[in-house]
Amino acid sequence: MRNLINILDLSTEEIQGLMDTANDIIAHPAAYAEKCRGKKLATLFFEPSTRTRLSFEAAMYELGGNVLGFSEAASSSSAKGESVADTAKILSCYADIIAMRHPKEGAPYVASLNASIPVINAGDGGHNHPTQTLADLLTIYREKGRLDHLTIGLCGDLKYGRTVHSLLEAMSRYEGIKVVLISPEELKLPSYVKKGVLVEKGVEYIQTTSLEEAIPELDILYMTRIQRERFPSEEEYFRLKDSYILTPEKMQAAKADMCVLHPLPRVNEISVAVDSDPRACYFKQALYGKYMRMALILKLLEEADKPEKPEPDEGLYLRNVIKCRNSRCITTTEQELDHVFKLVNREHDLYRCIYCETKEKYHGI
Ligand code: CP
Repeated sequence: MRNLINILDLSTEEIQGLMDTANDIIAHPAAYAEKCRGKKLATLFFEPSTRTRLSFEAAMYELGGNVLGFSEAASSSSAKGESVADTAKILSCYADIIAMRHPKEGAPYVASLNASIPVINAGDGGHNHPTQTLADLLTIYREKGRLDHLTIGLCGDLKYGRTVHSLLEAMSRYEGIKVVLISPEELKLPSYVKKGVLVEKGVEYIQTTSLEEAIPELDILYMTRIQRERFPSEEEYFRLKDSYILTPEKMQAAKADMCVLHPLPRVNEISVAVDSDPRACYFKQALYGKYMRMALILKLLEEADKPEKPEPDEGLYLRNVIKCRNSRCITTTEQELDHVFKLVNREHDLYRCIYCETKEKYHGI
């Protein structure tokens, strides 16, 4: 079954195909109004959301389909202890496709292993948010006319911001990308993303704490919210929450055609006075997200109807040999899950948790 758990589940050609479909939907919405007649989307949101859940729902309605689901864990049977795996099996009886958001990293992947319908990751903890990346890519493509040869500044909470991690994965596949990482020391990009994405793919990057120094060079400025809900202490959140505030004064130093993106919600990291600047693209970005989700629903439903061609997996796995030490990993709450690690670097005995991608060294084999 074809799912979307990580943005890398899609090739660059497939992403281009989704953008072409989204652009066609924008140009000819009536042609798509009946495409999902009789189909149902289940939105399983164990964490709050405005844009992702409601744009998925709007997307399905605009395709002529229907929607069922819940918007908080408390109103589902997970509040009574039902597992993600069982929830996915049950929803496979009621719907044709699932969009799931969950605070635990790897939860949508667990759902995909247990569902008989396509599963879309709508955000899992601080890990991934691939459909936000699809929205980001369409916005960049429509605004700049390309996805290559761009200097992208990512500013704010680069540690917990899952949208940043997914966007870097996606952008690192295009030529001529330069990345400027702008964050306080405490919220720097995790080294598994820096090494595993930027270094591994040979992407040129610099790190700085100064937005003012970085802004004149940027083609794209991707602002992010400081992720209060992921901080271990409120005290640290309050110390860092106003680290960066984009104002009209700071925008004066930016290129005339720089694009400001933000996955939203914003708290105060972009002054509302910036909203009227033609370079502010974050509300368009939210709209483009709906069109990309329409394109994605169409693609996954179409592929679900095709006979499956299972791909051989020759990877080396450890099952219940080591435990994942990431406190946000889904294995910490779903007791029946096996702890499974895949060998990713034989020379360094490095294994990766199949759910949350935390890496561990193991010398036992
Ligand atoms: N960008 C985003 O994921 O917004 P929501 O949390 O409102 O879905």
